[in-house]
Amino acid sequence: MTSTLRYQSGFANELATEALEGVLPRGQNSPQRVARGLYAEQLTGSAFTAPRHANRRSWLYRIRPAAMHEPFGPREHARFHNRFHEAPATPNQLRWDPLPAPPADTDFVDGLVTYAGNGGADEQAGCGIYLYAANRSMQGRYFYSADGELLIVPQEGRLMLHTELGVLDVAPLEIAVIPRGVRFRVDLPDGTARGYVAENFGAALRLPDLGPIGANGLALPRDFLTPVAAYEDIDGDFELVAKFQGGLWSARIDHSPLDVVAWHGNYAPYKYDLERFNTIGSIAVDHPDPSIFTVLTSPSDTPGTANMDFVIFPPRWLVAEHTFRPPYFHRNVASEFMGLIKGAYDAKAGGFVPGGASLHNCMSGHGPDAASFEKASAADTGKPDHITGTMAFMFETRRVIRPVAQALSSPQLQGDYYSCWQNIHRHFNPES
Ligand SMILES: [Fe+2]
Repeated sequence: MTSTLRYQSGFANELATEALEGVLPRGQNSPQRVARGLYAEQLTGSAFTAPRHANRRSWLYRIRPAAMHEPFGPREHARFHNRFHEAPATPNQLRWDPLPAPPADTDFVDGLVTYAGNGGADEQAGCGIYLYAANRSMQGRYFYSADGELLIVPQEGRLMLHTELGVLDVAPLEIAVIPRGVRFRVDLPDGTARGYVAENFGAALRLPDLGPIGANGLALPRDFLTPVAAYEDIDGDFELVAKFQGGLWSARIDHSPLDVVAWHGNYAPYKYDLERFNTIGSIAVDHPDPSIFTVLTSPSDTPGTANMDFVIFPPRWLVAEHTFRPPYFHRNVASEFMGLIKGAYDAKAGGFVPGGASLHNCMSGHGPDAASFEKASAADTGKPDHITGTMAFMFETRRVIRPVAQALSSPQLQGDYYSCWQNIHRHFNPES
């Protein structure tokens, strides 16, 4: 059935949707007989006994249960894996050019390339960081990850995400999150697509607490959109690809697994338009720590210390007086993997281009390059700066982000990245 591409608004709300009227049971989840001959199936994304605010589950009413497929066997995919310990983690600052165009007939799953990661599905902590470049819609193939939820950040080309719970159309400057276990396929309406993915092995992403900011600000719950139910009733010789404990598995399935006619619950995919972010900054001096730009956070067991944050650097006004306005020099206990969706990033004069990436690990010094430093140091801070036409983002983690061997030997790795800080002038004068 073709989706009508309608959405429901709100973050992790209890939602209810049916593609055929009268399917959702009233007053119970699992009636003896579901309307129209459907099967009832629960999909849980948290422990049964998780506190109510963190409890995620949905009830699906589908043509066939998810159990109905042939056995899985291992499936090769040399570039998409979770071998985060195959190369020594490096304290060096790293930066990559964008992925080149992929070989012909590369779909979203085949186009995924592991760059780095930490933790793992077995630990239920950490995240995998991937880039993708694809030029074909997934044909006769469906995918899910049992390892983590997928935060997809398109950089070029729209994605049409056909999931068990409905269809999401996602364009660059939007993000999508597919919960752990939800099956989906990806169409490419523009023919090609490129972007970034973080696979969160830890606690589900949620909106950050706002503290003294108050009840409003940053990403607003009502701007998160979840699809209405839409189903495929298709038989054929299809492949179901599972990511399980860092590896890929493949099973034959004789029907589309996207056959959920109705569902209710709070465990569902969603999308968000990054341009709706309510960006907050200083109106006096200095600027807040970049946690002020957090869109979504995956908490760890340590209060205030995220397993993973998704942070953006959107267009904004800079008005702080007597202040070095770009991101300052810093070293953090957290590790930072950055990408650029559009435009230029205000701490770099060049080298960090849309589709590229950088990694600054725990306690590795970084910050503006020499040209950006000189320019900002001489700027008239009596006037505002308007940063426009840009969107950078960061996957920030408490654990060191370990680049995998293929990322360290990649032709896209910029061997001279360190040199952007080598021509920083010495200004020190004890007599001045
Ligand atoms: Fe940083």
